[in-house]
Amino acid sequence: MASPKPRWFLLFLFFLCCNIPFISFASDHISFNNSLSGNQTISSQGGKFELGFFQLGKRSASSNYYLGIWYKKVSEFTPVWIANRNTPISDPNTSELRILATGNLALLDYKNTQIWSTNISSLSSNSTICTLLDTGNLVLQYSSNQTATLLWQSVDYPTDTWLPGGKLGRSKATGTHRMVSRKNSDDPAEGIYSIEIDPNGSSQFFIYWNKSRPYWTSGKWNGKSFTNLPEMQENYQYNFEYVSNENENYFTYSVQDDSIISRLVMDLSGQVKQLTWLEEQQQWILVWIQPQAQCDVYALCGPFGSCDEKSLPYCSCLTGFKEVNSTEWELSDPTGGCIRKSPLKCSANNDSSSNGPNDQFFQMSTIRLPDNPHVLNTANTIQDCEIACLQNCSCNAFAYKSMNCSVWYENLLNLHQETDGSGEMLFLRLSASELKNGNHMKKDTIWIIIGSVIGFLVCTVIILLLVRVYQLRKFVLAIRESESSLVTLTYGDLKRMTNNFSDRLGRGGFGSVFKGTLPNSRYVAVKRLEGNLQVGEKQFRNEVSTIGIVQHVNLARLRGLCCERNKRLLVYDYMENGSLDTKLFHGSSTVLDWNRRYQIALGAARGLAYLHESCRDCIIHCDVKPENILLDKHFVPKVADFGMAKLVGREFSRVLTTVRGTIGYLAPEWLSGVAISVKADVYSFGMVLLELVSGRRNSEELEGHVDYFPLLAAIKLHEGNVFSLLDHRLNGDANLEEVERVCKIACWCIQNEEHNRPTMGQVLQILEGSLEVGIPPIPRLLKVLTEDTASLVFFGEHSHGEQSCSVGYSDS
Ligand SMILES: *[C@@H]1O[C@H](CO)[C@@H](O)[C@H](O)[C@H]1NC(C)=O
Ligand SMILES: *[C@@H]1O[C@H](CO)[C@@H](O)[C@H](O)[C@H]1NC(C)=O
Ligand SMILES: *[C@@H]1O[C@H](CO)[C@@H](O)[C@H](O)[C@H]1NC(C)=O
Ligand SMILES: *[C@@H]1O[C@H](CO)[C@@H](O)[C@H](O)[C@H]1NC(C)=O
Ligand SMILES: *[C@@H]1O[C@H](CO)[C@@H](O)[C@H](O)[C@H]1NC(C)=O
Ligand SMILES: *[C@@H]1O[C@H](CO)[C@@H](O)[C@H](O)[C@H]1NC(C)=O
Ligand SMILES: *[C@@H]1O[C@H](CO)[C@@H](O)[C@H](O)[C@H]1NC(C)=O
Ligand SMILES: *[C@@H]1O[C@H](CO)[C@@H](O)[C@H](O)[C@H]1NC(C)=O
Ligand SMILES: *[C@@H]1O[C@H](CO)[C@@H](O)[C@H](O)[C@H]1NC(C)=O
Ligand SMILES: *[C@@H]1O[C@H](CO)[C@@H](O)[C@H](O)[C@H]1NC(C)=O
Ligand SMILES: *[C@@H]1O[C@H](CO)[C@@H](O)[C@H](O)[C@H]1NC(C)=O
Ligand SMILES: *[C@@H]1O[C@H](CO)[C@@H](O)[C@H](O)[C@H]1NC(C)=O
Repeated sequence: MASPKPRWFLLFLFFLCCNIPFISFASDHISFNNSLSGNQTISSQGGKFELGFFQLGKRSASSNYYLGIWYKKVSEFTPVWIANRNTPISDPNTSELRILATGNLALLDYKNTQIWSTNISSLSSNSTICTLLDTGNLVLQYSSNQTATLLWQSVDYPTDTWLPGGKLGRSKATGTHRMVSRKNSDDPAEGIYSIEIDPNGSSQFFIYWNKSRPYWTSGKWNGKSFTNLPEMQENYQYNFEYVSNENENYFTYSVQDDSIISRLVMDLSGQVKQLTWLEEQQQWILVWIQPQAQCDVYALCGPFGSCDEKSLPYCSCLTGFKEVNSTEWELSDPTGGCIRKSPLKCSANNDSSSNGPNDQFFQMSTIRLPDNPHVLNTANTIQDCEIACLQNCSCNAFAYKSMNCSVWYENLLNLHQETDGSGEMLFLRLSASELKNGNHMKKDTIWIIIGSVIGFLVCTVIILLLVRVYQLRKFVLAIRESESSLVTLTYGDLKRMTNNFSDRLGRGGFGSVFKGTLPNSRYVAVKRLEGNLQVGEKQFRNEVSTIGIVQHVNLARLRGLCCERNKRLLVYDYMENGSLDTKLFHGSSTVLDWNRRYQIALGAARGLAYLHESCRDCIIHCDVKPENILLDKHFVPKVADFGMAKLVGREFSRVLTTVRGTIGYLAPEWLSGVAISVKADVYSFGMVLLELVSGRRNSEELEGHVDYFPLLAAIKLHEGNVFSLLDHRLNGDANLEEVERVCKIACWCIQNEEHNRPTMGQVLQILEGSLEVGIPPIPRLLKVLTEDTASLVFFGEHSHGEQSCSVGYSDS
């Protein structure tokens, strides 16, 4: 129905269809004559959006239904607007969305009570029509005069999503338009974070906690970009515009390329995200996120929770505390925080004859202290401070620093575990029984020892019995191993193989890798996926079997999987020489010689080319970096971690942006939001090639100053002096022709424009010497980097982005 036929024709169609119950409307509007209920929907004319009733969440046992608009062409169900987010209905069959006699659009439940309505009081006519536009906007107009101004539109009442064309701001007529996060991943009700334009009238956005406490600002709009949004400044694909007049002031934005599906969302993590739909990957990809550090979100972990940027999940309860509602924590909403496991023995403190032990303090170090301390001037020593806190039943913690005593009477909010050693000491008041656990431990260990001796005897007997079974099992496993199909293992198997996950080989964005031993003494690497996995068991098995089929000498070979309840593990061949980064950057004892490096480049290129071109479904790796290139005992490279995007679901984009270092390998199109193609891998591979030449990280600090190595390489290439780029640890012991070839091809790979980059197949041919290549131009983005300091934060180090900007070159 995409053709712009006259409206009567659509109506005619509607009447035809009317006899068949529950057929989706061939229509983009609701008028007095047609209402919406059950599984009926209307679609916008271009077929981009759809309006109807829906349910949310995997735990769909709940019978909460919502009326809303979602993307029709996006396979992952994504609502962009919800009419009744706070008041779900229980049965769409008996509920109805219709035009009332007053001309208003309303949602009525089975008792005909209004759940929601457009609620305009001054309608001059009752013949109105409601249309879903291709921008995702639902508008109410007079049906007699559709050129007249809109009576009501859904973009004025956003939920948590800002679509291109929508307005975010304030108007006299409709008040403040703010995006409010969802409550949790299953419940779209209003959460605690919101973003809105500065209520004082300046042209900037604030993100608020509980609508009252701002914790991030976009910075002022300068006509082109926001000062705190460096991602917006270079190559940004969206046009923002600020409009301010006597009736309203707001921001709106448009996407240059109409085919790009993109949205801004106030996420339940308390961060604002720009996401773009990637058809090839069938997932939303993160373009930018603010605030970048998850722990910068105010009070993310709720009362008595602590945020740690370096751990997944980010939030945990303080010692002696437990989650108030663990269901909510599982649904990615820790804002409810934690409560004491055992209550304070407060009243006993002023009573020495009482036999209950006093409350005690638990010392926590490297903590960024919570908000709202009370400074006590009366306490001048740490003992006074402690006593002062003990004497007041509502005192929860104290801190003492250079003669200043601070105590906290209310809930402890906004605590951070600092990972860089900074932060201060906090003394947390706990019931003595919580702290006694430490002493119990010692007694426990005695019992453990006695227990183990008895256990050992019992086990020996059992083991003797099991040996026969075990031998059979070993036999079976050995047979399975020769097959090409994947082996499904139980969690118990893997726990045994890895000796209870004791030997950790490494930790990446998706989880930790442990060394394991097969019954036949062969080693395997067991990867335990961590974090909030958003992929169900069935999908996980499907994706894993797709990955399992991919076999190539330069790709890490998947051997088995485990999928039990929320546990997801993958078993790979063990690689004796670890990952490339350890051999290239850290291993000072043995330097990889040039020949080996060249063979690694060749092998990795073969692996990637196979992923891109030869296997049945083209796989974009998305995360090519030295950490993901493994080396076997003969230093044959194996590209690992491909296909992970689909295994972990949406978590992927966050993994990419938070894992330090990965950013440096991301192609510019990741930031600009256009669709990602295999050329993004080519870009990352180019960055890896340069590191093979230099033997150091591209954005590493060297002797106090920072050279952005890719730029240096491009310039030296033009000067014809590539040999100076070579890792000095090699003492010039390398094939000059090969070094030049690697630099050239690397520089082609990191070109800004995708079409200027070679394919992985061409890269391989050039490395093999069967294809010649000219001198590449200096990549445009690298040039920009020397001038535009802000962008480098994204390309290099999060932690010292400012320093890395002083690239040692004036210009070329
Ligand atoms: C709506 O529900 C009816 C009855 O269950 C079903 O026959 C029909 O196919 C459904 N229509 C759509 C579009 O899902
Ligand atoms: C609704 O139906 C009535 C007759 O049942 C017709 O006169 C009227 O034009 C229709 N209105 C619209 C907006 O289609
Ligand atoms: C709505 O009606 C359809 C078809 O009769 C039925 O399959 C569905 O279960 C009903 N939904 C609810 C929530 O009762
Ligand atoms: C509009 O209002 C008139 C009376 O004011 C009423 O007769 C008519 O039925 C109403 N039409 C609709 C579509 O509600
Ligand atoms: C409609 O708006 C009036 C004020 O304009 C308000 O008092 C009333 O609660 C609103 N009703 C609904 C259902 O939103
Ligand atoms: C339709 O609305 C426009 C704008 O409000 C007005 O100028 C025009 O006269 C109206 N036309 C009719 C037929 O009412
Ligand atoms: C708005 O102005 C008031 C009074 O000048 C000030 O207290 C408040 O902090 C300002 N709010 C913001 C968000 O800047
Ligand atoms: C949010 O603010 C309201 C008052 O504005 C307050 O009643 C409520 O307790 C606050 N919520 C939290 C979690 O602090
Ligand atoms: C925990 O949170 C869930 C989801 O919000 C809610 O359904 C449940 O009632 C809560 N449980 C308790 C004990 O409050
Ligand atoms: C402890 O002190 C409170 C007031 O601070 C008092 O009400 C209470 O009786 C005292 N308890 C005992 C056991 O003395
Ligand atoms: C404990 O602290 C609260 C909060 O400041 C205060 O109101 C109360 O008077 C204090 N109680 C004592 C016994 O000092
Ligand atoms: C101690 O408190 C005083 C007054 O509140 C303040 O001026 C001083 O800077 C504080 N000292 C430290 C080390 O925080």
